Parts: sequence; C-alpha cells; structure tokens
Amino acid sequence: VDSRRSFVSDNHAGAHESVIRALAQANTGDATSYGDDAWTEGASAALQTAFGARGGVFFVFTGTAANILGLSLLLRPYEAVICPDSAHLHVDECGAIERVLGGKLLTVATPDGKLTPSLIAPSLVDRGDQHRIQARVVAISQATERGTCYTLDELKVLGEFCRGEGLLLYVDGARLANAAAHLGCTLADLAAQADVLSFGGTKNGAIGAEAVVVMDEDRVTAAPFLRKQQTQLASKMRYLSAQFLGLLEDDLWLHNARQANAMARRLADGIRDVPGVELRQAVEANMVFATMHPAHIARLQDLWRFYLWDPAAHLVRLMTAFDTTEADVDAFIDGIRLTAEHG
Ligand SMILES: Cc1ncc(COP(=O)(O)O)c(C=O)c1O
Repeated sequence: VDSRRSFVSDNHAGAHESVIRALAQANTGDATSYGDDAWTEGASAALQTAFGARGGVFFVFTGTAANILGLSLLLRPYEAVICPDSAHLHVDECGAIERVLGGKLLTVATPDGKLTPSLIAPSLVDRGDQHRIQARVVAISQATERGTCYTLDELKVLGEFCRGEGLLLYVDGARLANAAAHLGCTLADLAAQADVLSFGGTKNGAIGAEAVVVMDEDRVTAAPFLRKQQTQLASKMRYLSAQFLGLLEDDLWLHNARQANAMARRLADGIRDVPGVELRQAVEANMVFATMHPAHIARLQDLWRFYLWDPAAHLVRLMTAFDTTEADVDAFIDGIRLTAEHG
C-alpha cells in the first residue's frame, strides 16, 4: 500500500469504518435471501423517506448497473437518452447502455458537464419522424463528471422543460452526496424534478453499493424483474443494504461528502496561484480540474498519483475522497509547488 495519498479517484479510498461495523452487525445468523430481510427493509425505507420517493429503492453492486437499471425503467426500444458528451454512461461504461439495453445515446457538447434546455433542444427536432430515434430521457450527472453541480434553480428549469416536452429525467447520482453537501440541500430537493435517480454509496465510503431510487409508483413495477435480468439481484442482499445503513447513521454520508468537497476546495485554493497552473472548472464537488505545463505534469507524476484527464490539453483531474485529510492535501500542494519551481 502506498502511504502517499492518491488523488486519482474517490474509488481509490477504502471503506469507512462505520460501514465495516454495519456489515459486521449484519453478519449475524441467517437472514432470508434476495432482500427479504430487516436490513434491506430498513435501508430502503430510510432512503425512500429521504428522497420522498413513492416508487421504491433497489440496491445494486455498481454505478454502471445503477445507470442501466435506472434507464431501463424509462426507455422503450425506439427511444434515446440525451446526455452530455462527458457523461460517465457514454464515456466510461464500455457501451453498456448500447450493449445491455440496446439503447442509443444522443450526446451533447457541454463545457462544464451540465445540460440546459437550449443545449437539449436540437436533439428534439426529429421527434415524430418514424425514421428517427425518439428522444425520451434526459440523463444528467449530479455532481457532474466535471465536478460542477446543478443548482436547484437549474434543476427546476430542466425539470419544467422536460415535463413540457414529454421527456423523462434520469439523474446519475454516483456523487449525489457531494452535490447535496455543496448545495446545502436535502436529497428530496435534489430528487424533486427527477423520475429515477441513482444514489452512490461506493464513492462515499461504502465498499460497493448503489441505490436506484424510483420516484413514481407507476414506474416501479418492472424494477425487480429488470434488476434480476441485469444480474444485480444480490442473494445476500443484507450486505448491500447494511452498507447504506452505515452511511445513513447520523448522516455519515453527508459528513463524508462535506469532507471530500472541503479537501477539493483546499487543494484548489492551494494551487490556484502556482505559476503555469490554471483551474478550469468551478470546484463545487470533490474534484479539481487544472491545466499545467506538460513538463510539470511529468515531474509531478513521478511523485504523486492523479488523473491525466486530457493529455492533449494538459488537463489533469485531482480528486479527493471522504478520508482525505488536510495533511494529505497540504503535502500534495507542496508537491505541486515544488515541481513547478524546479522546472
Ligand atoms: C458519474 C459516475 N457515474 C457512474 C459511475 C459508475 O460506477 P461503477 O464504476 O461503480 O460502475 C461512476 C464511476 O466512476 C461515475 O463517476
């Protein structure tokens, strides 16, 4: 294990000790399989209340699986998903939506990872033409893959636009906790405009658990069947659910997200005046996007782990996690400063 912290991804972090404790508590005796257990009942009920969801909550193993299940509840075979060109489900899921759902993505270029009505509108011109795929779902990520967050006003505008156009709204919430922490709002506030959302546990301190939250009871009937077909029905479901119980206790999920976000802000503040370093996105969640001289990047890569997001643009992504400390960040800032000065 490298004692120097990784700034590659929040997936490099371990699991929170409270999640491990919750798992140990669930690890007692027999329990009915496939989700008919007290832990799943408790975690689902708590999340349903927190989101104000009338439909239901379905635990799956990965964020990719959550996106597949969530979108499969909203799409018919001739319908498409509008998403930003930076969307994880477009760029980083190996074509899972295309392969598993047979779904088509209509991607939209967006500088900050966010969709707006005017960015979506051009994808709607072919609706009604039987030769063309029919746009039906708008998929956004909250927080976005660029570390930005939709404000509640932006969500409201998007939600009203979608309803007006007969579009459904899906939210990839792999980092929904980070958005809630940044905006100072509830999960229900973030869900108010959505039809289906995912709520990520993994990046927030779980070992590996994500929830698919179905807002409307009319859309929930197919969910258990589709989850099973999509190989995501855990036989020992209590171990997925217990992870969420650990995160929900005393709002640990929110504390974890606040810590990750605060460390990203500290990092951004510590490097914004380093010669040659330019911050490229608003730092609202737990990631910092910056451009640096290529030689500077190379020197830093010898010492620290981080993600070269776009080599051609010399753009790096520096990501913090729930367990990143001030000392970790300060050491990394020193590293960035030193490698800049000795160029
Ligand atoms: C925004 C977003 N959505 C979904 C995922 C998918 O998660 P997983 O790798 O667990 O499939 C990720 C993972 O990095 C992500 O960043």
